[in-house]
Amino acid sequence: MGAQGDGIPVLAEPPDFGQGDYRSALVLVTNACNLTCPHCFVFRDETPHDPRDKLRDATLLHQLRVLRDRHNIKSMLFMGGEPMIRRNLVLTAMDLFEQSSIVTNGTYGIPSVPGHLVTVSLDGPPEYNDQVRGRDVFDKVRDAIFARDPGDGTTVILQMTITRDNAPHLEEYVRHVADWPVDGIAFTFYVPSSDDRSVFVWKDLKERDAVIRRLLKLKRQFPQIKANVGALELMFSDVCLESTGTQGENCLLKSTLPLYVGENGRLERTFCCYGNNVDCTRCGAYAVFNGAYHRKFAA
Ligand SMILES: C[S@@+](CC[C@H](N)C(=O)[O-])C[C@H]1O[C@@H](n2cnc3c(N)ncnc32)[C@H](O)[C@@H]1O
Ligand code: SF4
Ligand code: SF4
Repeated sequence: MGAQGDGIPVLAEPPDFGQGDYRSALVLVTNACNLTCPHCFVFRDETPHDPRDKLRDATLLHQLRVLRDRHNIKSMLFMGGEPMIRRNLVLTAMDLFEQSSIVTNGTYGIPSVPGHLVTVSLDGPPEYNDQVRGRDVFDKVRDAIFARDPGDGTTVILQMTITRDNAPHLEEYVRHVADWPVDGIAFTFYVPSSDDRSVFVWKDLKERDAVIRRLLKLKRQFPQIKANVGALELMFSDVCLESTGTQGENCLLKSTLPLYVGENGRLERTFCCYGNNVDCTRCGAYAVFNGAYHRKFAA
């Protein structure tokens, strides 16, 4: 078996994550990012995020194949850092899974991946977005969205992470993007760290309830908003712990395998998709509540 310049064998086997099945997984194909969004969970101290990519394309592809077969993984979310920094790797790796998706900041263009989903992040209307994501990022993303062929078979949705800080701009943001040629406008809410006292976190969950109500109202006006009313209702402060638990014990997203890249390019499983330092009691991950909604009504 050949070795890379850094000593990692090209076909190094992935770590042992046990024998269980995981229908879904996510992988950070790089910890590098061209933006420095202050709310980002990837760059929290407790979560692995060494920006030097130590896993070569061939090694990561091999490990993803092995993990797919070992854990019966059907769906893979490619993220980072900024996954489009390793565009060629991602485009090849997406074909390894029955369902693949990528979440990107959109500044490297929108990839054409027929049959797959591309989620493009924005944090609010132009002025606010650019305070968080950087100068001219909103226009860059808009240009990339309008430049793509909307009939190429790729599903493209926008996603805003709602925080206490950007919540006042919610309605203005929706008006800005309502007529963009995308397949939907999605929202998720901020996932705080355990000791989070930043401007992004609500003082208490009742304060967040008011924002959820505004989103429900917007959804009635804009059908392009891809939010499930029942899932949003499970986020209200009086019931949200039933979907999360205090330590993630009720969280359906815990059945996703989160693959972060740690020391020496070794894949590491973190506490959850949002890394190693999270406060489940204040978690706003839409996927958690959407999963709980489907569990409740499938029963
Ligand atoms: C970590 S980024 C990685 C992919 C890419 N760089 C991007 O920005 O889309 C994936 C998504 O997580 C969101 N995100 C970052 N920090 C978050 C947090 N603390 N809580 C909830 N979502 C967060 C981002 O806004 C983005 O939509
Ligand atoms: S672009 Fe994505 S990965 Fe990069 S800092 Fe922002 S949210 Fe985090
Ligand atoms: S922070 Fe959210 S996604 Fe992570 S385990 Fe807790 S409830 Fe689940």
